Amino acid sequence: MDRESFRKLGHQIIDWIDEYMAGGYPGPIAPMDAKPGDLLAKLPEAPPQTAECGEDVLADFHELILPGVTHWNDPRFFGYFPCNNSRAGTLGDLLGSGLGVNCMSWATSPAGTELEIRMMEWLGQMIGLPWPGCIQDTASTGTLVAILSAREKAAPVNQHGYYGQKPLVVYTSEHANTVVLRGCWIAGIGENYLRQIPSDNQTFAMRADILEARIKEDLAMGLRPCLVVTTVGTTSSTAVDPVAEVAELCKEYGMWQHVDAAMAGTGAILPELREWLMDGVAEADSFCFNPHKWLFTNFDCSAYFCKDPYYLKKALSIQPVFLDTAYDGAAENLRNWSIQLGRRFRALKLWWVIRCYGVEGLREKIRLHLRMAQALAEHIATDPRLHLLTPPRLNTVCFHTGDDEKTRALMEAVNASGKAFLTQTRLDDHYTIRVSFGQTHARFEDVAALWELIRENLARLT
Ligand SMILES: Cc1ncc(COP(=O)(O)O)c(C=O)c1O
Repeated sequence: MDRESFRKLGHQIIDWIDEYMAGGYPGPIAPMDAKPGDLLAKLPEAPPQTAECGEDVLADFHELILPGVTHWNDPRFFGYFPCNNSRAGTLGDLLGSGLGVNCMSWATSPAGTELEIRMMEWLGQMIGLPWPGCIQDTASTGTLVAILSAREKAAPVNQHGYYGQKPLVVYTSEHANTVVLRGCWIAGIGENYLRQIPSDNQTFAMRADILEARIKEDLAMGLRPCLVVTTVGTTSSTAVDPVAEVAELCKEYGMWQHVDAAMAGTGAILPELREWLMDGVAEADSFCFNPHKWLFTNFDCSAYFCKDPYYLKKALSIQPVFLDTAYDGAAENLRNWSIQLGRRFRALKLWWVIRCYGVEGLREKIRLHLRMAQALAEHIATDPRLHLLTPPRLNTVCFHTGDDEKTRALMEAVNASGKAFLTQTRLDDHYTIRVSFGQTHARFEDVAALWELIRENLARLT
């Protein structure tokens, strides 16, 4: 691509992104009639042998790609947890793409490492956690490196492998995200040594008394309890595990504690939520939250903090000759804090977001999402056909009709309208609809529109 085309297309693309962010997508939020293979059937099977012009690629983006896109950043997307972006984050990401540097070592791009270190310090101040850390790609990786750190502490590597004499055991709540299970598979802990501790049936938070009983049982069987992964803001219902109580158990039994706050961690930038969300976190060993979920920073960006990076670095440090630089030892090489060798310049987009919003601006947005969740919950609570599961303290509202088939049909009807997008979970043995607020361009009036859509479709089903 020549310089002129690059500039021309670049301007067009930025203009298009701006419109997209301003107004949402004019079509349905999720592709309505998409079937597996639809796009594949339209794409050439072989790559072009000669250069095509960018104008044609952009035209195909609009014609072929967009109809198959789910619009996660539409203000009416309420599914899963958000994966929100922003104008500021997009510009930061674009600069990062333009630079295309690899921040694996300090010397491979000194500004990359130092901006990352400073951004982690800023985030730490914003949530009240003065620990060092680095940016991981996702909370999946954050959980995995916590498991590896805990494993390294409990059973350091030797010539026989990691396990020493006793199998290691990991504990988490039955409502923890499956990233814990996958982390245990990958780290070789094995599913049989992951205990999914039952939760309280009102709050869906881990039962610390059952946790302690399981730890004692495992010790009696000659196993080595090594890690508890507590969740602040579970995926299904934003339940908050008793982090402080678990921290005491972890101290007593010599275990690592990781806190997975992938979505809810952002809530701790609000002074009014911090005490609740961060209660006991300072006593844990590691903590992770995703600015790419609720802090308007383009995917991917997950902030991983650890009280002491010793075991993390012991588990992951590598220094082959081909990576030697004059500054090893004098400066942090962040490859030793993460799994991948190559590291993107993710700190740039975070820097743009924090500076362009300011902490107060970020708080304002989060408070709007909380108000939206409250408003929807109030509507639901007044409708005798619906059951609200726990009043929301964060941004997610969970409800059902009491009849699994009807709840599913309700959600599908809302989604089929193309005017909102919801997803589901299973709670209290009911198929449950989750509505998660968190869009960068969220509008309070969308709550009323969503409620109307829910009521309309409910009336049709009754
Ligand atoms: C509590 C929790 N942990 C972990 C994850 C996984 O996050 P990621 O996609 O960043 O790996 C999620 C995703 O929603 C989550 O809610």
